Amino acid sequence: MKKYLISSILLLSTSLVFAQKQESSGFTPGKLWLDNKGVHINAHGGGILFHNKTYYWFGEHKVEGEEGNKAMVGVHVYSSKNLTQWKDEGIALSVVEDTTSLLVKGCIIERPKVIYNKKTKTFVMWFHHELKGQGYKAALTGLAISKKITGPYQYIKSINPNAGNWPMNFPDSFKKADPKLNVEGMKWKSPEGQKLLAEGYFVRRDYSKGQMARDMTLFVDDDGKAYHIHSSENNQTLHFAELTDDYQNFTGKYTRVLEGKANEAPAIFKKDGKYYMISSGTTGWDPNPARLSVADHIQGPWKELGDPSRGTEAQNKTTFWSQSTYIIPVMGKKNAFIYMGDRWTPKNAIDGRYIWLPILFEDGKPILRWFDQWDLSIFL
Ligand code: GAL
Repeated sequence: MKKYLISSILLLSTSLVFAQKQESSGFTPGKLWLDNKGVHINAHGGGILFHNKTYYWFGEHKVEGEEGNKAMVGVHVYSSKNLTQWKDEGIALSVVEDTTSLLVKGCIIERPKVIYNKKTKTFVMWFHHELKGQGYKAALTGLAISKKITGPYQYIKSINPNAGNWPMNFPDSFKKADPKLNVEGMKWKSPEGQKLLAEGYFVRRDYSKGQMARDMTLFVDDDGKAYHIHSSENNQTLHFAELTDDYQNFTGKYTRVLEGKANEAPAIFKKDGKYYMISSGTTGWDPNPARLSVADHIQGPWKELGDPSRGTEAQNKTTFWSQSTYIIPVMGKKNAFIYMGDRWTPKNAIDGRYIWLPILFEDGKPILRWFDQWDLSIFL
């Protein structure tokens, strides 16, 4: 009995020490991040919405093994007051068993982002959606909405956006739809490939059916206008597309950004009237060097500023072994932003780690440095 009592006291005190450690340790990029139930957070390719003094983290719910790269469950949501302790709020958007639904279990749901529409008092989720059994061919963006932030979200539709609209920065001479264009197998870095891209061949091919939309993010500007930003044109060019007032449709006003530069994983923030973007190259689940760009207007033109990473050569080559997904403005602090990246583990998708690093500024330019452990006191 006495022995039992002593071991229980020991157990209790170690768990207290552990709990305290969790609380005070701030962010530990790459380590397991436990939620309020002691389970590693399952919200990959995620984004944050700040609402009613609370941060909500939406992301891809992954399962074990390679199967986990497909949507077997849906979009998971967590809430937090301080960005370090997260409460499991359950599945915000669920895949379905119904094989006639595009949202059937086994499709692909990636990089879900949620924004709040004040006019309709509705939470609007867009996500990269690929159809079951079709790999990454469909290149759709999916829409789901809810009156309650944590869901359940109701699936509305998946589309190739901006059908029947030319990009705003497309010269008139390019405006010739050509649905039969076949450029499979093209080497996009070759002079021939670059020429085809420059002349907007994909835009012309997809003019009637709508443009490709893969890696994506959402950005709401200070004037309340929202933008859907996605890798289009076979991942070779980003499209910055304006959403309608209710955020549930595309207005058809979009621009091509960094044409032919093959950017993925766009993450945007605004500081002192300038828009900054961190994006990645296109190497699938493997990391590559991040890219920083800046613009005076959200829809561009965007100017490349180079690699924001300031680490060892190996760290810079891999963006600290991560790929961008979102940039979090820290509430109540001026010019405080957090880079939110994923360290993908495609062989066992559920084990993916979160690389959150403070965005620091060097000569006024945003940069990233590695920290084993850090907390919000880094921001003044
Ligand atoms: C990455 C992309 C991820 C996922 C992956 C699949 O480039 O950023 O979201 O689509 O490719 O290979």
